[in-house]
Amino acid sequence: MSSLPPVGRLRWTDVPTPLRTRLETALGSSVVDAVTPAGGFGHQLAAALTLASGRRAFVKAAPDDDPLTDANVHEATVLDVLPPGAPAPKLLGIHRAAGWTAVVIAHLDGPHPDLSPASGDGGQTWALLDKLTSSPAPTAYTAAVVGTPSGAAGLHGWDVLLANPPGDLGLVVRHRLHELAELEAAWPALAHGDRIVHGDLRADNMVRDHHLGVTFVDWAHATTGPACIDAASLAPQLILAGHTPADIARLLQDHPATANSPETTTAFLAALTGHWHRNARKPAPPRAPGLRAYQHRAAAAGLALLDYRLTGR
Ligand SMILES: Nc1ncnc2c1ncn2[C@@H]1O[C@H](COP(=O)(O)OP(=O)(O)OP(=O)(O)O)[C@@H](O)[C@H]1O
Ligand SMILES: [Mg+2]
Repeated sequence: MSSLPPVGRLRWTDVPTPLRTRLETALGSSVVDAVTPAGGFGHQLAAALTLASGRRAFVKAAPDDDPLTDANVHEATVLDVLPPGAPAPKLLGIHRAAGWTAVVIAHLDGPHPDLSPASGDGGQTWALLDKLTSSPAPTAYTAAVVGTPSGAAGLHGWDVLLANPPGDLGLVVRHRLHELAELEAAWPALAHGDRIVHGDLRADNMVRDHHLGVTFVDWAHATTGPACIDAASLAPQLILAGHTPADIARLLQDHPATANSPETTTAFLAALTGHWHRNARKPAPPRAPGLRAYQHRAAAAGLALLDYRLTGR
């Protein structure tokens, strides 16, 4: 019935029967197919369900003692309080049974956006970010995220690499560790703000829905912060998709989310890039194949962008 998931992901049939039954009851129809979409590095169930009624729904589920359950519940809370018009799918429900929790989300139909220069999806994503960050987060959203520590605010890595430089660090980067650690050290004091922050914006955390257009998914890291966080996180992803650092540096200079906060944007980029450089060198987690290779690529793209911002070349 189910198509094979990427290595490491739980499948629909791994979900305890009482929870599957509960979900089918809530959705009003039995599940006839469960497809695990490509994308992401998580190990939990993340599947598009097709029901006997023909309707589709997206579900994420994990055992309650898995930290991903807290993240899923946080995501569900956030989906419920995002302002109307936010580029996010609707929450359909949270269900618990047999020591597992499932979050059911409206299904989006389409591929991940194409962030390459040939596509209009990148432009659409920048426009969405402008709209999302142009005014303070609604009170209900701020109240929903206030108790969850911001992953974005805690990003760092150059400090750790400076204290103990790894053998495989290139000479050029090695000589710049002091400068990079100093840039990064400015980030914690600048990390606060009142805007909605998705907190994990990559192409695989977006779907280009046939009706809604580009829509952000995976709101598990959502928080509040300065407007620049998502735009500056997206920037290295565009370089990975084929844009030049020069083009993306120009975009950050002009985009409303980043134009007025050059210092904060640079400090965040330094912290994010340090985080990637540090984490890429950690042992690979057993259930997240491909994560370290991605972090190496992202680290290189982030540093190329940071360099362009600092030197103009
Ligand atoms: N509402 C949705 N409708 C259809 N597909 C979706 C929906 N939400 C997410 N997806 C797809 O499922 C994949 C996994 O979902 P998501 O990113 O939310 O899970 P995750 O386990 O938190 O991911 P990660 O591995 O990034 O932590 C996404 O990359 C996307 O392709
Ligand atoms: Mg994801």
